[in-house]
Amino acid sequence: MKKNFEENQDQKRLVGEKAAEYIKDGMTVGLGSGSTVYWTLRKLGEMIQQGIKVSGIPSSKRTEGWANEFGIPLIDFKDVDYLDIAIDGADEVDTNLNLSKGGGGSLLREKLVDDYARKLIIVVDQSKMVNELGRFSLPVEIVPFGWEVTAERIAKLGCVPKLRMNENEIFITNNGNYIVDCQFKSIPNPAELHNQLKLLLGVVETGLFINMTDVVIVGGDNGIRVIE
Ligand code: 5RP
Repeated sequence: MKKNFEENQDQKRLVGEKAAEYIKDGMTVGLGSGSTVYWTLRKLGEMIQQGIKVSGIPSSKRTEGWANEFGIPLIDFKDVDYLDIAIDGADEVDTNLNLSKGGGGSLLREKLVDDYARKLIIVVDQSKMVNELGRFSLPVEIVPFGWEVTAERIAKLGCVPKLRMNENEIFITNNGNYIVDCQFKSIPNPAELHNQLKLLLGVVETGLFINMTDVVIVGGDNGIRVIE
């Protein structure tokens, strides 16, 4: 599903900057991806200039670029046993705080970074809050070799997988893989679907983030709502 980076910028800025308040001196931070987290990173850059000491692991090449631009020191997984906190965006958040992610194509690195953090904070605008996941096509990262066969197997789970394109070229993830965006009618049981997908040969990772979220910061017309 093609995403509009410019949509709801005011709400994204509000929640992105609010999330930065959770970052304290000395913390290691998982740096998520997307246009909402962009505002967190910008704010964090200001905080660093004012003297706070933090370092982070970026969850995409784009985020790495922003971190460098804003002067956020970067570390690697081997440097720490865990991250204190991760701040990331999402494409959908359900009532159990399960997520659909990967609209920007960074789902695998995001999951690795978010999972390494003791606390995961998700920043979204109100439009991403849903009763049930599935309105947004579910991104699934797959290996390029034999991708058509993998896509057929995924389709048997009840969706229409569509190979993600970038203009006229196949979209390639930061890990050198493809993404199929899978339109299910609905996803009533995200954990079950995630497990079914992961059993398929050729599937690298799904955009379903189950039982990982600690806090959701939601931006709406009337300001910010924090769900814990
Ligand atoms: C990228 C993602 C992003 O976190 C998600 O798409 C949210 O992005 P945005 O804040 O731009 O709406 O999963 O892979």
